[in-house]
Amino acid sequence: MAIPKRRGKRVRPARRSAPAKAAAESAAADTALERWRADTPGCQDRIHLNNAGAALPPRSVVEVMHRHLDREAEIGGYEAADEAASRVQEAYEAVGKIVNSRGRNIAIVENATVAIAQALSAFDFKPGDVLVTTRCDYPSNQLMYLSLAQRTGLVIKRAADMAEGGVDPASVGKLTRDPRCRLVVMTWVPTNSGLVQDVGAVGAVCEEAGIPFVVDACQAIGQLPVDVHAVRCDYLAGTARKFLRGPRGIGFLYVSDRALAAGAYPLYVDMRGADWETANEFQLARGARRFENWEYAYALVLGMGEAARYALAVGDVAFTRSRELAADLREKLETLPQVRIFDRGADRCAIVTIAVDGHEPEELKHRLRARGINTSVSDRVSGVIDFEAKGITGALRLSPHYYNTAAELGAAVTVIDELTRG
Ligand SMILES: Cc1ncc(COP(=O)(O)O)c(C=O)c1O
Repeated sequence: MAIPKRRGKRVRPARRSAPAKAAAESAAADTALERWRADTPGCQDRIHLNNAGAALPPRSVVEVMHRHLDREAEIGGYEAADEAASRVQEAYEAVGKIVNSRGRNIAIVENATVAIAQALSAFDFKPGDVLVTTRCDYPSNQLMYLSLAQRTGLVIKRAADMAEGGVDPASVGKLTRDPRCRLVVMTWVPTNSGLVQDVGAVGAVCEEAGIPFVVDACQAIGQLPVDVHAVRCDYLAGTARKFLRGPRGIGFLYVSDRALAAGAYPLYVDMRGADWETANEFQLARGARRFENWEYAYALVLGMGEAARYALAVGDVAFTRSRELAADLREKLETLPQVRIFDRGADRCAIVTIAVDGHEPEELKHRLRARGINTSVSDRVSGVIDFEAKGITGALRLSPHYYNTAAELGAAVTVIDELTRG
């Protein structure tokens, strides 16, 4: 006979009061912040507000690269690559997770610019074809569009902005109804301001119109949640060194299953991207690998993989915290009458751009650096159209990340005030 189980009395966990809950959450946040800072040797002696340029990497990123370089020196570069094969594959998977895709959809290339160039080169533009883009696209991308226009007769059309800033998806929609429209390319977060363009709305417009969509997510990766399926893009470019906190000189291109199945490949496909099968025929690699080059920097690939793993472990708090810190920074800067803030758009991210009358941004950057505070400068050519509309020729760019502290922001604002007051 089965013995009936005795039901114990369920003890409900005591409900925490709201202040106790808030205190526990804040203690956990403090612990996480301490851990991130302990993992980041660079933040001990400097206030690094140049994460949109190149973030400080966590120690583990530097370690995996050192270890691989040591192995290259000890056993040989090709042999070390063989030894690291499974870790290299894991790097692809980790980078894939950052954009909610699989490793097979990731091509690892030198940087975001190369990623965009590879994607653009997959299209055979004919004279009169139209490429639609935005007024805030990254300068190197704008140069590529202009170069393509000169070489192929492609027509570049820039969609209109909304009153508050950022591309108007309805304007993109109108331009994509042109039967000659072949492609939409858009920079999610421009290099020269805190604007976040509505990439999801533009992706929906492109999907409805059946037009391929290329996204430059260089400043978004590591700073905003990125989901290539939500964005509905065919290609998405990223780089390791910015908000992802990876090394310099390495980036990636996400290539959708749709583009792969359509047989897309870059103009200058090489022996990594394809097999030379007979004298006049080649066979493309199956996945996004067809957009890569044969020779690449294994140590950097492993470093980017580790940065992706670290970012995944930190989680979404990186996005909320960097944005909150930037909002706090803007608030603090607004108290300085000599400072003007230039970030537009309904949605503003962890890039803060300012100008101070009578002070060149470059000079300010160097004087801040001498005081242990890293910032950067966006000059006129980083955003000709945007800066012309704002009536400035450049801006000082401050870009906090989740491992910065409110105290660091306060200290930076105090020094800016000291350097520019009166
Ligand atoms: C928005 C944006 N796109 C693309 C790039 C180019 O990235 P990379 O230097 O890795 O080619 C940058 C670099 O600052 C950028 O800010």
